[in-house]
Order: sequence, then structure tokens, then C-alpha cells
Amino acid sequence: MKPAVSSILFTFGAVATVTLLLTGATAPRSASAGTSGDAFDYRVLQNNFQLFHEGQRIFRFDTFGSEAFWGDALKLHQAIAGQANGGVGGGVSPETALAVGLKVDSEAIPRSVATALRQGKVDLKNPATTLALLKFGAVVGVKGTFDRKGKLTAVGIQCSLCHSTVDDSFAPGIGKRLDGWPNRDLNVGAIIALAPDLSVIANLLGVDADTVREVLHSWGPGKFDASLLLDGKAFRPDGGAAATLLPAAYGLAGVNLHTYTGWGSVTHWNALVANLEMGGRGTFYDPRLADAEKFPIAAKRGAFDVRNTPDLVTSKLPALHFYQLALPAPKPPRGSFNAAAAERGRAVFNGKAQCATCHVPPLFTEPGWNMHTAAEIGIDDFQAMRSPDEHYRTTPLNGLFAREKGGFYHDGRFATYRAVVDHYDAHLHTGLGESEKNDLVEYLKSL
Ligand code: HEC
Ligand code: HEC
Repeated sequence: MKPAVSSILFTFGAVATVTLLLTGATAPRSASAGTSGDAFDYRVLQNNFQLFHEGQRIFRFDTFGSEAFWGDALKLHQAIAGQANGGVGGGVSPETALAVGLKVDSEAIPRSVATALRQGKVDLKNPATTLALLKFGAVVGVKGTFDRKGKLTAVGIQCSLCHSTVDDSFAPGIGKRLDGWPNRDLNVGAIIALAPDLSVIANLLGVDADTVREVLHSWGPGKFDASLLLDGKAFRPDGGAAATLLPAAYGLAGVNLHTYTGWGSVTHWNALVANLEMGGRGTFYDPRLADAEKFPIAAKRGAFDVRNTPDLVTSKLPALHFYQLALPAPKPPRGSFNAAAAERGRAVFNGKAQCATCHVPPLFTEPGWNMHTAAEIGIDDFQAMRSPDEHYRTTPLNGLFAREKGGFYHDGRFATYRAVVDHYDAHLHTGLGESEKNDLVEYLKSL
């Protein structure tokens, strides 16, 4: 289960340290007590590797104590285990887990099991197999807690549940981790709806469990509604689901505001998510959520000022932040776009189509206050009005290809690249011709 990358990094760290020492820097007697520039450079370097390594571990594996919510309150572990394994109902087989979009980390599976899997000797219809995968820590984003007899007693969730996928190198849904790539197959609503006890959510929303299930099933794959347990708005005015797409967590360095509606910085949102969305146990302060008119559920549950002892979140925020900013946007595979057309499309993007006025390359969002009204981008303001700033944030476009599934814009309303381009062409009256539109699409695919 040791990620090979970290050993490479440690090797790199050692080489870099040696280089630093060879290039005249004297070995700091005590790195932490050093006052010379060289000693401090050395500490910076060490800090760099430490934050990265810890951040990766936290992003992938930390549950922030969210077992209290997913286990104790929702009792999701009982539904996963099934009656035959001390839980309730039929249990969740690996087949079902993969069908709701959960991913399996092939590097966490012991070799003998991997061989058996390849030979078709593993029963993928049996919930006991899911329990084994949980014991290996192989289900991306879900951690199982087992008692001494091997019974599943709780589950907790990790950032990687929604913000990582796998490369399918072993089999569909099974492969090496791709951190920061949104899992657009993951049906978060369907997974939560499996929970035998939805009373915490029902009580917060003031509805019955069936209504909660109806809401959860309205989301569909690749979506989650991070505002539901803040404002209680389950549906859009037109009756559609109020959920948003799971966004990329890569390519965020240099970007000022985060989330589709610019709630705050990466680390603000990390703290909000760990405490308020995942059900982790830490500290969170955001007085904007005390507005009972706008955020009735948040105000009721005291989400504006959360204090837990012990605090299982705050000490993890620096490394978590660092790791996310270190995640580069992936490059599209060769041959997935027409390079000559993309090159022409670049000129359209930067010129006639006016895209670059907001999506400023190479960041592809505005350096500065990257927020716009709904009217500026020609859409309704429902989701914007659910956020404190009541605007939409200019989405950074790097690595767009890795989130094509589920569509574009916060709710996936534009199913294709072409639909996005047509929307802007009509809204901004740019009068693009057919070949300019095609070139622009190829450029978007190339980012
Ligand atoms: C249940 C799924 C889920 C989990 C788990 C989750 N997130 Fe998210 N995340 C989302 C959704 C949905 C959004 C978009 C919210 C919005 O824009 O309103 C989001 C947005 C973000 C963003 C903003 C991205 C951008 O484009 O600016 C960051 C950063 C982020 N999450 C980090 C994390 C971290 C760190 C964790 C773990 C502490 C985490 N998330 C756990 C679903 C999830
Ligand atoms: C006025 C500023 C502005 C201009 C001009 C603009 N955009 Fe955007 N763009 C935004 C904002 C804000 C969003 C987020 C909308 C949302 O999520 O609902 C966005 C979202 C997008 C997305 C969706 C990204 C995703 O991950 O869902 C794409 C693609 C995009 N823009 C491409 C373009 C192209 C191509 C042009 C030029 C034709 C353009 N934009 C012009 C502000 C702008």
C-alpha cells in the first residue's frame, strides 16, 4: 500500500538535500534552530516534503472522525455489511459498489487477491468481498472500522471519495489513484440513501426519511449538494435537482476563490467540508452562516461556530492545503483533439470569442476577484444566491477533458463543449462562424 511516488519524492528530497549541502550550504547543526540562510533553506525544503507527504495521506486516508456521522448516526456500515455479516439487509457487493461509482485502489489489494481477481475467482456478488476490500483500505474514500471479531462497526469518508478516481488499469473502476480528478461516476446520493437511519438528516430538514431519499435519488452520478444541509433547498425552482457536479481539485494553485460560487479560499472550504459536509469533528467558524434567513439549517445546527474536542481537523489543514495546491491539472491524451484546430481555437478564445477576458491564460480564471453575476454569464442565479457572495466564480479550465462526463457549468447544464460555445456565442453576441466554433471546441479539449 506504500505509494511508490512518496518513496521517489523522498529519494528526490535526499538528493536535493545532498545537492544543497554540496553547493556550499553547510550542513545545519540543528535545522530547526538554524539562523543562517542555508539552514533556513534546508528547513524550507524539509517542510516542503513533509507537507506534501502528510497532505497526500490526509487527502487519501483521513476521515476526520466522520465515523460519528456515517457510522453512529446513519449506520451506513450496517447496510454495507448486510444481515449475513452482522448488519442489515442484503449488503453491498463489490458489483453494487462499482455500479454506484465507488472505485477500488488496485495498489492496496494484496498480490494473491489480485491474482484471484484476474482469474475470476473472487465473488463480486458477495458483500463479504466488499468487507475484505475495506479491510485492505482498497475502497477509495471509504474507511471501515472493524472490531476484533472482524465485524464492521463503522465507516468514515475521506476527501478522495469525491475528489479522486482511478485509472482503470486493472479493470473498469479498479486501478491506480488519480487524486484531484472528480469521480463523475460516483452516485453520492444513492450511497447515502442506502443508510438504514436517515433521521439526523430528516430532522435537520424537518421532513420524513422518504422525502430525504427522494432528494438523494434526484442528484444522480457525479453530483452532490454541499448546500442542502445549510439552506435546506432541495430542488431548483424549475423542479430540477439542486445538486452540483463534483469539481476538480487539481489545477487550483493561483486561483483566488473556490467552489462554483466562491465561498472562500481552498483552506476555508477544506475546513467547511471536513466539519459540515463530511461530518468530521473539528473547529469551524464562518459567521456568514449565522444568517437564519439565508441559511436556516446552518443557523439551526450552529454550523457557523463548530468546536469539537479533540479537534480532528485543524492540525491537518496546512498539509491538506499544500497537497491540493501541488496537484497539477492533467494533460489530455495525445490524439484526443485536433492540434492544428486547437491552435487556431486559441486565437478565437483570446480574441473574437472574448473568453480570455475572464478565463485569463494560463490560469484560466481571473487573477484577483474572480466572481461574476449570473447575468454576466447568461444563466439563472439560483445557485449563486445560495452562497454568501451571490456570484459565480470563473472556473479554471485546465484539465477540462477529465471532467467532461456530467457536462459543464456547476450543474452540468451544458452537456457538450459545443453547447458551452453556442451558449457564449449567443449570450455575448460574438457572431462566431462554424469553423471558429469547431476550433474553439478543439482548443477547450486541449487545455
Ligand atoms: C461527498 C463528496 C465530497 C467530499 C467527500 C468532499 N468534497 Fe470537496 N467538493 C464537493 C462538491 C460537490 C464541491 C462543489 C461545491 C460547490 O461549488 O458548491 C466541492 C468543492 C471542493 C473544492 C473547491 C474546488 C474548486 O473548484 O474551487 C475543494 C478545494 C474541495 N472540494 C476540497 C475537498 C477536501 C479537501 C475534502 C476533504 C476534506 C473534500 N473536498 C471532500 C464534494 C465533495
Ligand atoms: C464574464 C466572464 C466569462 C466569460 C467572458 C467567459 N466565461 Fe466561461 N465561465 C465563467 C464563469 C463564471 C463560469 C462558471 C459557471 C458555472 O459554473 O455555472 C464559467 C464556466 C465555463 C466553463 C465550464 C467549466 C466547467 O468545469 O464546468 C467553460 C468550459 C467555459 N466557461 C468556457 C468559456 C469559453 C469557451 C468562453 C468564451 C466563449 C467563456 N467561457 C467566456 C465566466 C466567463
